[in-house]
Formats: sequence, C-alpha cells, structure tokens
Amino acid sequence: AGDDCLVFKVNGERFEVPEIDPSTTLLEFLRSKTRFKSVKLGCGEGGCGACVVLLSKYDTVNKEVENFTVSSCLTLLCSINGCSVTTSEGLGNSKDGFHPIHQRFAGFHASQCGFCTPGMCMSLFSALANAEKTNQPQASPGFSKLTVSEAEKAIAGNLCRCTGYRPIADACKSFAADVDMEDLGINSFWNKGDKKEIRLSRLPSYNPKDHTCPYTEELEDEYKSTRLL
Ligand code: FES
Ligand code: FES
Repeated sequence: AGDDCLVFKVNGERFEVPEIDPSTTLLEFLRSKTRFKSVKLGCGEGGCGACVVLLSKYDTVNKEVENFTVSSCLTLLCSINGCSVTTSEGLGNSKDGFHPIHQRFAGFHASQCGFCTPGMCMSLFSALANAEKTNQPQASPGFSKLTVSEAEKAIAGNLCRCTGYRPIADACKSFAADVDMEDLGINSFWNKGDKKEIRLSRLPSYNPKDHTCPYTEELEDEYKSTRLL
C-alpha cells in the first residue's frame, strides 16, 4: 500500500483506507464500515469500557508483538496504522467456536443486556494474555497466572448497568491461579454441593497456550516479511 494509505487488520481481515477524516475514531470505523459490531458506544469519552478492543502492535525495538487494550472511542483511526485489532468476534464466535471467556461469562450469568460484555471480555483477555508473559510461576493446568485480585482488577475500567458485578467477577476469578472454587457463585456448570473436582471438570477448559490471540503471531510474520506495511 502507498504511504498515503492506512493499513491495519481487524480480526485478521485486512483494511486499506486511502482517505479518511482525521477525526474518525476506531469505534466509528468498526461500527460503520465493518461487520464487527460487538464494540459499543457507551460514554464516548473513555469512561465506561463498552468500546474496549485489543490492539496488537509490533514493537520494532524489542522485536515482539505488544498486546494492550484501548478504548476505541478515544483511539483515532490514523493512529493504528500497521496494527492488528481484535474484537470479541475475533476471540471466538458461533461459527469458529466461542472462547472460554465467552463460555464462562455465559455460564456464570455475567451477561444480562450484553452491552458491556464484549468490552469486559477483551479487558479480561488482555490481562490473561499479558499475565503469561510475566515471570510469575506457571499456574496449575487450566488456570492463568493471574491472581484473583488481578483478575478482578482486569475489568476495573468496565462498567455494567445490569449484573451488580458479582457474576462478572466470578467469571473473571474462575481463571485465576489462586481461586477458591467454593467462592464462585451460582452458575450453570455445577450444582451447589458438588465437590471441587467435579466443579473443575465442568468449567469450560482454558489453556493459556491454546487460547492466545489468534492474530498476534500473524502480525509478527507480516512484519518480518513486510507484507502488512
Ligand atoms: Fe465509553 Fe469508549 S464508549 S469508554
Ligand atoms: Fe447490561 Fe452489563 S450486562 S450493561
């Protein structure tokens, strides 16, 4: 693509945008020009998290892909040249299968109207992905390196008008290395009184290695072969 053209990817789909009003936000673009409408306009000023997406950017100094969340309502489209955006649809969907984050949000009844859910899922996903990069010891199989308090903090910037947060916190905490299964509230996975082993076996399985961002590796390859830019 020419120098005057923005190039980026959304959920693995390549977009080339030759001309754009420089005030266009990533949120406006996603909602008006793509089929990825899980991102929502809540406050429009960075306060609610309904528009949160994962941004993957190749760091040319450290030579690795960095993953972090942004409020797409505050992110100018012109600032994401060469980046890869992942929305909740990219994490999982009805066609390719849902991500364990989606499955656990559903099972813990952490989604009511659903308006806040995609942003919540992306915030949690980013925290899970970045926890794997830390030096903390590997958690037991099926769990993240995140602690319960880190898992709760992961969604500190996301507001929900419906659930009262308890079920959302339960869904997030279910991934944490130090979670106490007795602490997790009502859900559709197990019955009250079920033993710990039963509870564990009923939780939609999570493996940090299998449930990474599908587009991160791709971004790295593209940079190496300069296909994206
Ligand atoms: Fe509220 Fe973006 S819409 S943070
Ligand atoms: Fe309705 Fe969170 S489920 S805003």
